Amino acid sequence: MQVPFLDLKIQYNSIKEDVDSAIQKVIDNTAFILGESVTNFEKAFAEAHNAKYCVGTSSGTDSNHLVLWSLGIKPGDEVIIPANTFIATAWGVTLCGAKVVLADCHPLSYNLDPEKVEASITKKTKAIVAVHLYGQPADMSKLQEIADRHNIILVEDAAQSHLAEYNGKKIGALSRASSFSFYPGKNLGAYGEAGAVLTNDEQLYQKLKMMREHGQSKKYYHDVYGHNYRMEGIQGAVLGVKLKQLGKWTDGRRKVAAKYNELLKDIEQIQLPIEMPNVKHVYHLFVIRVKGDVNNRGERRDKLQQFLSDNGVATGLHYAIPLHQQKCFEDLGYKKGDFPVTEQLAESGLSLPMFPELTDEQVTYVANKIKEYFSK
Ligand SMILES: Cc1ncc(COP(=O)(O)O)c(C=O)c1O
Repeated sequence: MQVPFLDLKIQYNSIKEDVDSAIQKVIDNTAFILGESVTNFEKAFAEAHNAKYCVGTSSGTDSNHLVLWSLGIKPGDEVIIPANTFIATAWGVTLCGAKVVLADCHPLSYNLDPEKVEASITKKTKAIVAVHLYGQPADMSKLQEIADRHNIILVEDAAQSHLAEYNGKKIGALSRASSFSFYPGKNLGAYGEAGAVLTNDEQLYQKLKMMREHGQSKKYYHDVYGHNYRMEGIQGAVLGVKLKQLGKWTDGRRKVAAKYNELLKDIEQIQLPIEMPNVKHVYHLFVIRVKGDVNNRGERRDKLQQFLSDNGVATGLHYAIPLHQQKCFEDLGYKKGDFPVTEQLAESGLSLPMFPELTDEQVTYVANKIKEYFSK
């Protein structure tokens, strides 16, 4: 049996008619940039997260930048982000000319560890970016308490966590502003590059709208610095159709996760993902950890990955090289050993196939192959 890591075609086939006609409408109206499809989507996406405002953008990376830039982050400032995240969280900081400061993740949630954040705060710290990694919300109450005490800004990178919940509330409107990615493989994916920013702050919303469009309040009147971070009409149209299915698809992901958990629970050699008690995890990724020697450089995990691959199961590594060990961040001065939890995850984490349309047979096949591997 072949089990892909992700299959976007199944999803497209299930909504083909609606998607095709929504795209055709944008073309018929030649409404290629922003326009009605984007405005409608913005409204629906904000509502879905109980947020007041949404600004559609050109990508999650651009949204990361826009959030921090609009909040005044500038050269000389420090911004704390998790060591365990996709590099685009860091680009939000570097594009503002500010310094990336990393903090380790929590051993159970794999998200920013509030204690480590507190220890990294200096006089120059201006913001914290909480990433809801793999679809699991970060510990927002503790992070907000720390941010308030030090008078710094808390924002969210929600690229992997559409519709996730923290203490019964949707993420995205739990901080000053949040950034989302609609990269095609995300829980809500466009048919190209796209992203969004959510906020409850009206003034910030007005600024974000200007900044994503050359800083203009009306055509050729540039009131503030900006850039071209606009969402394309076709992406707004596709996302509008897909958003209607997102609740159902999220339930599908949670069902797949529950099935993996049930089938794999007795395998001592692996650590299953832990859904923290006060959250609703939306399983953008289902990351297991292969237990064993931390200094084995991922050998145990790599062998399991190879075995699964030999048996038709595609898996992924998120993320095999932590940010502080990336070449581009050598100048930050970190070294191996600085973020032990992140490093352990990088060496032992393995992302299993995860998408809402995975069948019971496929999930059972993957689980049986993992069992077979460890019973050898
Ligand atoms: C945590 C995180 N932040 C930011 C991004 C950037 O999003 P995009 O690929 O839309 O630029 C991604 C995904 O790629 C991500 O996973």
